[in-house]
Amino acid sequence: MTTRTRILTGITTTGTPHLGNYAGAIRPAILASQDANADSFYFLADYHALIKCDDPQRIQRSRMEIAATWLAGGLDVNRVTFYRQSDIPEIPELTWLLTCVAAKGLLNRAHAYKASVDKNVEAGEDPDAGISMGLYSYPVLMAADILMFNAHKVPVGRDQIQHVEMARDIGQRFNHLFGNGKEFFTMPEALIEESVATLPGLDGRKMSKSYDNTIPLFTSAKDMKDAISRIVTDSRAPGEAKDPDNSHLFTLFQAFASKAQEEEFRAELLQGLGWGEAKNRLFQLLDSQLSEPRERYHQLMSRPSDMEDLLLIGAKKARAVAAPFLAELREAVGLRSFVNQAAAPVAAKKKAAKAARFVSFREDDGSFRFRLLSADGEQLLLSRNFADGKAAGAVTKQLQSGDALDVRTEATGFSVWLDGAAVADSAEFADETSRDAAIAALRVALTPIED
Ligand code: TRP
Repeated sequence: MTTRTRILTGITTTGTPHLGNYAGAIRPAILASQDANADSFYFLADYHALIKCDDPQRIQRSRMEIAATWLAGGLDVNRVTFYRQSDIPEIPELTWLLTCVAAKGLLNRAHAYKASVDKNVEAGEDPDAGISMGLYSYPVLMAADILMFNAHKVPVGRDQIQHVEMARDIGQRFNHLFGNGKEFFTMPEALIEESVATLPGLDGRKMSKSYDNTIPLFTSAKDMKDAISRIVTDSRAPGEAKDPDNSHLFTLFQAFASKAQEEEFRAELLQGLGWGEAKNRLFQLLDSQLSEPRERYHQLMSRPSDMEDLLLIGAKKARAVAAPFLAELREAVGLRSFVNQAAAPVAAKKKAAKAARFVSFREDDGSFRFRLLSADGEQLLLSRNFADGKAAGAVTKQLQSGDALDVRTEATGFSVWLDGAAVADSAEFADETSRDAAIAALRVALTPIED
């Protein structure tokens, strides 16, 4: 049993990370993953990217850039499970199971979908014009991302809180419908990092690609310098006192400075440091922190097969969790092997398994045998003869191990085989139907009970 907190978050792979993404999401996530109590699952939400983007080149480039950014930023893949969503086939499969329990009305209320509808209506179009099922079902895919790994905490931006709530809603409904008292899914909580302010962009509005006001992160020192030179400032001349608290240049500086560096910069601005020089200070600060990871970033980008290997290892780790869990969920909804179908109803299984018992006895000739009796004392099996009690005991043990039972029918009876030898036989039945019912009852009786 792990008591660590599972922290899971996804990054939609449609763009190139900029300084605001780095300070607002990437850096805090990497830091959080270093906590001994954290069991972090970070992934590239590339299925989500397909919803917003039909440019394959861009999707591919973004996946690589985002992977390289996180790795260059110091993500330790030995600590963290780092993977591509699209390498985990269990996720789309779970998405379908969840789609079948998600209320359409719930999805009608999703902000992203509603915003698109409102826009269409405003433009006098059909409400659903240009809206794909992908966009509509976006929250279900996201719920699968989260529920697949039973995440406790999901660090996200404010715009994603509703999606995490929907994941809870859908997960709860599934638990209720199929859990039979068992909580398959942990209820996730959105984690909003209050302390990491969103970084302002060049013009002072939130740094965002859609405002075209970003500072590039790892492309080159020159690109970063050029962008910094375009930061909008007031018109105070060198020598005039500046107001640090009303300067987004200062806010940007703060996001990367130590307390001491921050105080020094503040004092200099108050003393009339020119904006040109102030921009230079900001560049020096950023470059001192980002030049090393920038180097690593370009190394990673030049060796894509290394990243491919790392991500495939991550996928393997993630699937080691996802695959057995999905098998359980398939079972729960009724997608079960025909072979074990008699063992299906949990209640019946428990009752029968509890009551069935082996009774051993000794024949007059000194050999050892046993009977398997059902709940109501009916003989399900009579064993062959064994030379000693140990051999008989080993067979009863193996029959109870839960391994697939090798049952061979003979007209109106059957025998049970182990390692190529018949070890026990049934009684004779009136017909094949009652024989087959007895085989089913036997399988139920021999299904081990969990917990
Ligand atoms: N929708 C998220 C975003 O755009 C990305 C995402 C996809 C995600 N799946 C997730 C975030 C699961 C957290 C958990 O930011």
